[in-house]
Amino acid sequence: MTHRLAVLISGSGTNLQALIDAIQAGTLPAQIVCVLSNRPDAGGLARAREHGLATLEINHRDYASREAFDQSMIDALDPFAPETLVLAGFMRILTTTFVQHYAGRLLNIHPSLLPRYPGLNTHQRALDAGDTEHGCSIHFVTDELDGGPLVAQARVPVHANDTPATLSKRVQASEHLLYPQVLAWRADGRLRLTDHGVELDGQTLPEQGYQWHHPDLADRPAGTQRQR
Ligand code: GRF
Repeated sequence: MTHRLAVLISGSGTNLQALIDAIQAGTLPAQIVCVLSNRPDAGGLARAREHGLATLEINHRDYASREAFDQSMIDALDPFAPETLVLAGFMRILTTTFVQHYAGRLLNIHPSLLPRYPGLNTHQRALDAGDTEHGCSIHFVTDELDGGPLVAQARVPVHANDTPATLSKRVQASEHLLYPQVLAWRADGRLRLTDHGVELDGQTLPEQGYQWHHPDLADRPAGTQRQR
């Protein structure tokens, strides 16, 4: 039995695509049991359908309260018996009820090196601060927005001529490498949340999580890029 993932999206679903690709390539020993979107027009839903994945459309606008919306998601997700819930560009704040229901099974990816820049507009904020490094973080979800225990971070350089768009592209490339890797740890039973923090292979990770340096993310002088 491969590890059962439920993926929650609101948008284009490029992270979802990276997971689908990693599963197909055999580097992520998991199955996506369902893809849930709170937006009926999310591009990621088309990607899911193209790959024959079960989809759930639960429009938050149809619910009078956050509690009712989250309960409806729980009711829809639980029959799929997900072992890990993957927030991949899911743009709704979750209630305590939802977070506690899936405690230790709920992961999120955020486009900054947390604890820097929780919330929105992370690329603009990194540029405004003059940061030379930016990246993405994966964390277990708790009640604190973008504040749960960190699992892993991937760093990318900030270039002098970067705009939020160029920086976002570089960060997204790092997300597409990091999420499949972290979920492969989960699928292999290597990653868990304990009372002491995040454990990988029985060792508690440092507060900022595993620092991931993928060779494809290293900054290289122009003209020395590896051919892909
Ligand atoms: C990603 O940048 C993720 O970090 C953020 O939302 C974006 C989702 O992109 N939470 P996509 O829908 O996976 O393309």
